[in-house]
Amino acid sequence: MNLFRLDASILPTTSTSAEIADTVEAEWAAAHPGATVTRRHLGTDPLPADAWALAATGGFAPEQDRTEAQREALGLATELAGELERADAVVLAVPLYNYGVSQHFKTWADLVIAAAGPTASLLKDTPTVLVTTLGGGYGPGTPREGWDHSTPYMERILRDAWQADLTVIKRELTLAGTNPAMAALRDLADEQHLRALTAARTAGRALAG
Ligand SMILES: Cc1cc2nc3c(=O)[nH]c(=O)nc-3n(C[C@H](O)[C@H](O)[C@H](O)COP(=O)(O)O)c2cc1C
Repeated sequence: MNLFRLDASILPTTSTSAEIADTVEAEWAAAHPGATVTRRHLGTDPLPADAWALAATGGFAPEQDRTEAQREALGLATELAGELERADAVVLAVPLYNYGVSQHFKTWADLVIAAAGPTASLLKDTPTVLVTTLGGGYGPGTPREGWDHSTPYMERILRDAWQADLTVIKRELTLAGTNPAMAALRDLADEQHLRALTAARTAGRALAG
């Protein structure tokens, strides 16, 4: 058994998304002692910013005409797609940044698609848990409802494009504990935290099969 774990936090030592994903992973690992966990941390080991354009343009060129940089980028893209193809289960931990998808996640997804093509069902029926954490609140009726442009994109790619059997765990208001302007939201934030941890235990057990 092989679990693929992806992280994208740029603050790994205090990562709230990693905490939830760790809980999912621990449940999976308890059910599969000694099994393999393949890790990729996009926050601590970012993918090169120009890799996607090189892989995409390299893919358009006949093999003998590719530059060395294009070959390398295509090799990286193939490696990333392979990590997904070989996974029996997947856990991803990706925060919201600047109301949009983490650039690291976008580069990763673009590279995977450069290698596998836009319609490849790389995760068909693979149990997959997406953990996402957001500093603010974006629920129905809140002033910034609709400003989270990250979660819908990631769901589209994972569930619809790659056909993962997807569970999403979303924890909002993670900045309430440290941002004085959000002090009134702290109880709500604590509830969200506990709910996310409970959801993570349930999802981890389901992921383990
Ligand atoms: C550079 C940066 C940009 C951020 N942008 C947003 C944002 O647009 N909206 C939001 O709600 N939270 C934003 N946040 C807060 C993060 O989403 C939040 O702290 C999240 O819990 C981080 O996850 P992590 O602890 O796993 O890194 C931002 C944080 C950082 C560091």
